[in-house]
Amino acid sequence: MDRLIIRGGIPLRGEVEAAGAKNAALPEMVASLLTGESIQLHRVPQLGDVKTTIGLLSHLGVSVERRDRETLFLRADRISRFEAPYQLVKTMRASVLVLGPLLARFGRARVSLPGGCAIGTRPINLHLAALEKMGATVSLDAGYVEAKAPRLRGARITFDGQTVTGTENLMMAATLADGVTVLENAACEPEVADLAALLIRMGARIEGVGTPTISIEGVDHLHGAEHEVIPDRVETGTFMVVAAITGGDVTINRCVPCHLEAITEKLQETGVIVEETDWSIRVCGDGRVQGINIRTHPYPGFATDMQAQFMALMAIAQGSSVITETVFENRFMHVNELLRMGADIKVIGTTAFVQGVPMLSGAPVMATDLRASASLVLAGLAAQGITTVSRVYHLDRGYESIEQKLLGLGANIERVTE
Ligand code: UD1
Repeated sequence: MDRLIIRGGIPLRGEVEAAGAKNAALPEMVASLLTGESIQLHRVPQLGDVKTTIGLLSHLGVSVERRDRETLFLRADRISRFEAPYQLVKTMRASVLVLGPLLARFGRARVSLPGGCAIGTRPINLHLAALEKMGATVSLDAGYVEAKAPRLRGARITFDGQTVTGTENLMMAATLADGVTVLENAACEPEVADLAALLIRMGARIEGVGTPTISIEGVDHLHGAEHEVIPDRVETGTFMVVAAITGGDVTINRCVPCHLEAITEKLQETGVIVEETDWSIRVCGDGRVQGINIRTHPYPGFATDMQAQFMALMAIAQGSSVITETVFENRFMHVNELLRMGADIKVIGTTAFVQGVPMLSGAPVMATDLRASASLVLAGLAAQGITTVSRVYHLDRGYESIEQKLLGLGANIERVTE
């Protein structure tokens, strides 16, 4: 298992390029199951979760070829299995995304209940209830969800709560259903919209993308398409915090600033300078930030995937901050590790009260989930002394070449493989 060794206290400066978005690339790779023709995806990031998805799709019979660093060709013309086994899905919750496409095109799917980040119970009841509304028979057996439907039929579905992968699963399922499906209270995340853009290129009829009401008119079949994955807004946001927390000056290129408005506003509230062009964001700090209050929300609110990184920043802010997590229960596992580095944080229920300290000190810490790991790296970059972050595989699930990118900005960081 790899560890990252970080010698902190260096203001990071320079330019970095955003990778393609993990949370768009994964559903878009899975969308290849909806057609026997080739799907060509550009700007696919090199990540643990992408590798897991390639493994899962290959297991089902999809041929997956990486033509160059960023381009994948996927062709689902010889699907031989309809089951996503536990061994493959346990590390990645997004694997539940194969359910909708397999069911829509082949009439059956058997998918192990997913694992993934340990950030709450994270059920898939909303996905299943919606598929049942479209006529699927769903049963649970020995840790597996089994769904069957000769042909899904269009339905009006009002999600009980907003769910990103739930919206994606149902949107994919509805593209090949008989009739019109209307998804109410659908997720508005840019990654959902990007998946819809790919599906439309494949011949799907979708309206209302980016709004809470998405309408999909089913077609008989979809065809091949070529598509470029949008930039990763969480990776971009994380590098924005890198600049703020180290008192540095970092420009993130090839990003989409309008996807990060809530993050930008909050960073400005802390006192750092944020400058934007249409495709880049520059963040300059002088090492002093003000404590602010944060409440996570679905898009366009403040992303839960940025909460842990902001908590690291608030740990060294002047004054106090209140951070409330409303999307996931139990998403404060980074708190205990930050405490080991000298942070002053108290958690009551889903709210963290952070009293800023002048300085964090390096310590051995353990990554517990993807975004929690990022917050520990950020804390390590700001801390005096040496921080060792173990269980880096969590980080590798969602950040492409993170230590290479940080090295490029002047960080003292080293990966040690055991
Ligand atoms: C996606 C993102 C993840 C992000 C999250 C919230 C991907 C691959 N992952 O995860 O990075 O943190 O959105 O922005 O895109 N819920 C239910 N029942 C369900 C489905 C969800 O109760 O059937 C609950 C969840 O427990 C959670 C909330 O709804 O409390 C939101 O979850 P959801 O949007 O589904 O997250 P994911 O799609 O898994």
